[in-house]
Amino acid sequence: MRFSRRRVLGHGAAAGLVAVGGTRWLAGKSNAFDAAGQRRPLRIPPLLEGTLRDGVKHFDMQIQSGISRFLPGRETPTIGVNGAFLGPTLRLHDGDLVAMNVSNSLPYDTTLHWHGMHVPAKADGGPHQVIKSGKKWSPSFEVRQKAALFWYHSHLMGETGAQVNLGLAGLILVDDKESGGLGLPSEYGIDDIPLVIQDRRFKADGSFAYVSSMHDEMAGFKGDTLLVNGTMRPFLTVKRSRTRLRLLNGSNSRIYNFGFNDGRSLLQIASDGSLLERAVKRRRLRLAPGERAEIIVDMASDQTIKLMSYPDEAGGRGMMGGMMRRMVGNDETFEVLEMRAGRLEDAGSSIPDRLASLPDWQPDQAQRTREFQLNMPMMGGMMGMMRGRGMMGRGSHGGGMHELMGINGKSMDLKRIDERVPSGAIEIWKIVNDTPFAHPFHIHDIQFRVLDRDGRAPAAHEHGLKDTVLVDSGETVRVISKFGGYTDPDQPYMYHCHILEHEDAGMMGQFAMV
Ligand code: C2O
Ligand code: CU
Ligand code: CU
Repeated sequence: MRFSRRRVLGHGAAAGLVAVGGTRWLAGKSNAFDAAGQRRPLRIPPLLEGTLRDGVKHFDMQIQSGISRFLPGRETPTIGVNGAFLGPTLRLHDGDLVAMNVSNSLPYDTTLHWHGMHVPAKADGGPHQVIKSGKKWSPSFEVRQKAALFWYHSHLMGETGAQVNLGLAGLILVDDKESGGLGLPSEYGIDDIPLVIQDRRFKADGSFAYVSSMHDEMAGFKGDTLLVNGTMRPFLTVKRSRTRLRLLNGSNSRIYNFGFNDGRSLLQIASDGSLLERAVKRRRLRLAPGERAEIIVDMASDQTIKLMSYPDEAGGRGMMGGMMRRMVGNDETFEVLEMRAGRLEDAGSSIPDRLASLPDWQPDQAQRTREFQLNMPMMGGMMGMMRGRGMMGRGSHGGGMHELMGINGKSMDLKRIDERVPSGAIEIWKIVNDTPFAHPFHIHDIQFRVLDRDGRAPAAHEHGLKDTVLVDSGETVRVISKFGGYTDPDQPYMYHCHILEHEDAGMMGQFAMV
């Protein structure tokens, strides 16, 4: 069933969202963004390459609380790994044996999930692998990954959004044999620049705000201030004539629509879990929470350009689309990164025609199609939220599919394994979104390919490997993958909406590989 105009307008509560919420972004308004004043050099997260012992790379990661200074004269309590906010960039190579040594010095529990990576379920860092306050967690695994950008973040049941908002996230760069020979820009921090893109809201005392209204819960939490690698109003001093930007949308719920202020196109070379087979030129690049993309930017000496985010054009058609975008805060234009070129060195890098060879699973190979219907509370759920401030689905729910945040009529339950997938199976997962919101659907452990959107073949930039796919309102998306590798009947992997407030409210399920 399509989300029709009549249904939206019929739901008084949904229409009421417009009045309740909407973030006020930006320049020209007196907010934290303005108060921040001049631009600052983009912070580059430190690289952590691990220490090799007995053929295993050991990574020490200490999850800790700290104090960050984003605003003049204000302190912001944050969480980081080996630092106050965010964490180091782990560098891995396909085939590496790694041992993670994660300690939690926070005064509360957490987890650390390796988003996008193919690892045994017990090493996944999802909501079952809780690291108690003061305790250590030491998973080890072999890296079996195509070259791409991955990330790690908290995945504590019901608290993921709050902990990621405080800063518990970081990047993972994986290289492989194929990527090593391509000659792409790959000098970290020089011509290979990671960008963790997040929006935040500040309270008057300098601390980060988090969910404070029904609107935040329904539309997802959005900030009015952009941080890139934890830098407010960043600029990058570009050193070479060709630069690779690795973008992570590490925001809780905001969808970005990237483009350049001088109208140039973006050359996209990678998606979530791999390089693309060949580079794709795009005018705009839309990136949902959890998704990654890599682009190549060629510049001339003494040039300054800006990476921007523009209003989301693709999110729903017509008047309803416009109303939804305003409602969820994706109709704003703002700067992401100023790129300043001085005297540039020659690139010394190249963009080959063919970047990667990828698995090409065909629908007729699929043993099975599973359907996942995303559910959100409409009228009843909103009334419940207003009364109790809790989401429906935790505790009692008022009945009916649309009364809970969930998938296939069920809200996440750690004790219930929803799907059992035979190891080695090729499967199609069909995600159906009848809700008024767009949802980025993420599957743990695997990388998939997008088969179609409402029956239409995906655009060229969606031909790479992915682990998170944005499903627009009213849309049905089919993805295909080969599952398996590590079986474990008792420890499940997650699949969920990567709008962290939706995930925390129950739009998540579990599958075991058997
Ligand atoms: Cu990015 Cu289940 O996670
Ligand atoms: Cu994940
Ligand atoms: Cu969602």
